Amino acid sequence: MAIIVPRSSWPLASSALRLFNLLPAYNRPPLLCTLRHNSTAAAAAAEIPEPRQSPIQILRTLAEVRSWRRDQLIKGLTVGFVPTMGALHAGHMRLVQSSLRMNDATIVSIFVNPSQFAPTEDLASYPRDFEADVEQLAAQIGDDRQVDVVFAPTVEEIYPNGIPLDIDQQKGAFVTVHGLSEQLEGKIRPQFFRGVATVVSKLLNIVSPDRVYFGQKDVQQTVVVKRLVQDLCYGSVVHVVATGRDANGLALSSRNAYLTDQTRQDAAVIYKGLQNALMVYRQNTSAEKIIEAVVSSITEKFGKEDIEYVCVNDKDTLEELEIVQPLKGAIVSVAVRVPNKFGGKTRLIDNILL
Ligand code: PAJ
Repeated sequence: MAIIVPRSSWPLASSALRLFNLLPAYNRPPLLCTLRHNSTAAAAAAEIPEPRQSPIQILRTLAEVRSWRRDQLIKGLTVGFVPTMGALHAGHMRLVQSSLRMNDATIVSIFVNPSQFAPTEDLASYPRDFEADVEQLAAQIGDDRQVDVVFAPTVEEIYPNGIPLDIDQQKGAFVTVHGLSEQLEGKIRPQFFRGVATVVSKLLNIVSPDRVYFGQKDVQQTVVVKRLVQDLCYGSVVHVVATGRDANGLALSSRNAYLTDQTRQDAAVIYKGLQNALMVYRQNTSAEKIIEAVVSSITEKFGKEDIEYVCVNDKDTLEELEIVQPLKGAIVSVAVRVPNKFGGKTRLIDNILL
């Protein structure tokens, strides 16, 4: 066991240890961590446990990230950025691998962003496992490069004036991408993309990466973010990475942790439906026929009433289409509520490009 605490940090470190001892055993970080300076000692006492030692630097503050970013610029190194909410899986790792391959340095953020959750949604129970996340990231090697930095800020660091979940009580600056945030996911989760666009703006302002990586899995998010970057003149280039899937085709998602083994198997019908849509499209460009193909596959295992939407939309404007123009293609996207292990339902989303 190695705890190296500079003399100046003793009061903070001892209160961190007191808090540590109050945590239930399953929530305790291993006491292998090296408390290096005041901010790390404070972080050990905050909601994010300190991970085991790894070559990755864990940065908690805007000032630390900006200083790291300045160093990369001075050294002439390119920076790739992967924003996440943690509970990392192989789908996230595809983004990390792309960044490792395309950039000299890679920074991954882990921040469960409150403003994209409605008061009724699962912010409190959203899966969190910081230590496992850092371990997974530390194991990634791409073109002989590894992740350099994990940025894991507190909510106060990103929202210094607080962030009530009730949108009517939120004060201050927020970012809305009009025209692309209201349809599809936006219909079901009206404050979602305002929260995403706001936090992505903040993160881009803090990190200022050369390239930023998003997953095709959340296709509307990619459309919203591309427009945000264009309209607000950010200097970063947005890269979209193909969806990572289970062997049965189910799109990987942090929320898959909520599913029973049976549902996880049954949910294969979603991707099967999307592939059927692609087959239908090769003979028939009518959105109605394409949608029918998806619905008939999903209803093999789930009720029709649990399908929230199946839609065919333009790739750039997200306008709903009746006929797909072969030269332009389209997005077919779907949201289904499937039974979870808590006796309720979990929303799964997926999409395919035509
Ligand atoms: P999160 O759900 O953690 O996802 C982080 C990134 O990983 C997103 O760009 C998402 O599209 C991508 N991703 C998730 N599952 C994937 C899969 N199966 N294959 C490929 N990529 C996948 O999306 C968010 O967090 C948040 O909205 C965020 C952008 C971080 C803003 O808070």
